[in-house]
Amino acid sequence: MTERIVLAYSGGLDTSVAIGWISEATGAEVIAVAVDVGQGGEDLETIRQRALDCGAVEAYVADARDEFAEQYCMPTLKANGLYMDAYPLVSAISRPVIVRHLVAAARQFGASTVAHGCTGKGNDQVRFEVGIQTLGPDLKCIAPVRDLALTRDKAIEYAERHELPIVTTKKNPFSIDQNVWGRAVETGFLEDIWNGPTKDVYDYSDDPAFPPAPDVVTVTFDQGVPTALDGRSLSALQIIEEMNRRAGAQGIGRIDIVEDRLVGIKSREIYEAPGAMALMTAHRELENVTLEREQARFKKTVDQRWTEIVYDGQWFSPLKKNLDTFVDETQKYVSGDIRMEMHGGRATVQGRRSDTGLYDFSLATYDEGDAFDQSSARGFIDIFGLSSKVATERDERVAGDVDSLADVAQLSNES
Ligand code: ARG
Repeated sequence: MTERIVLAYSGGLDTSVAIGWISEATGAEVIAVAVDVGQGGEDLETIRQRALDCGAVEAYVADARDEFAEQYCMPTLKANGLYMDAYPLVSAISRPVIVRHLVAAARQFGASTVAHGCTGKGNDQVRFEVGIQTLGPDLKCIAPVRDLALTRDKAIEYAERHELPIVTTKKNPFSIDQNVWGRAVETGFLEDIWNGPTKDVYDYSDDPAFPPAPDVVTVTFDQGVPTALDGRSLSALQIIEEMNRRAGAQGIGRIDIVEDRLVGIKSREIYEAPGAMALMTAHRELENVTLEREQARFKKTVDQRWTEIVYDGQWFSPLKKNLDTFVDETQKYVSGDIRMEMHGGRATVQGRRSDTGLYDFSLATYDEGDAFDQSSARGFIDIFGLSSKVATERDERVAGDVDSLADVAQLSNES
């Protein structure tokens, strides 16, 4: 039987050419796999037909938008996933869902190999191949751009020579990856890191310098997951979409950073993730209200590790699963409402309400009705500061180690 290869297919120039390119180079039959993660653009039927017209023997298309929103975006929100405190993992979380469908298609069509269109310089090749190795250890991986010398110029030439039904003329200066969680833009003049982004870089958000009137939204969460906007129950996908629209109109979620790739390169990235960033602001504040102090402090460390693991392409790793268990357990009481004003590039929390919160008015108030026994504070402070106090006395006692006390003395002389 002829060997079969499943190809992660976007419908664009490079992967359309890759269909014929791979079959010529390997003699295998190519099955195109297109996964909708909310990237917009053409519908799946158009993409399926193009794959077949470009020589694929089969086309597998999947609407994975709800799956992506529920099983990939929501865990990211629960973990407040921001790589380098800035990037909400847009591309990093879409690769594992695509991998799941690639492996499913390989099984369905009896393929031995999976192909993707990544170059050898980025994170996405790692995410695809580590994921495929994990879910389908028997499958081989190839990357035509990286392994079969498919350059962009060759792709254009190939498409014209074979009269492939794709637009090859318009030259987009950027490399763009987008889905419902956000949009990543790189290359072109952005590679000079002194250059500011021009207006045409953005698509999911409007200029925050000229915002419409403020938009006040109430986000309802149930166990860390948003379930309603302004009292209307919606699916995870619908919530992200509506927040993309509303927060995007206010120019929220534009990010411009130099980022550390796993492969050791620093790269300039522009992101826009209006919905994700606004939802994260709301989620974090609800955690402030509902998580116990030590739990919250420790979760920050777990969130960061979770984010790095996911960025590094280890979505299906055992440690990632362990950390998911921790994060999920912390979300048990992260339920309630957050009211935010979205305006001019910012989402600002103005109100919080939770039946499972730890905020206790009678403990916090400085007005009548104070239930906090202030007389306990003194003893607490004495004991809390005791170890430092004992150490200071030791420093004083031991000759030659009076630096810290000398500093204090000098300070009091100056004042
Ligand atoms: N640097 C980001 C990441 O590694 C975005 C990659 C986007 N991919 C692209 N082909 N533009 O997650």
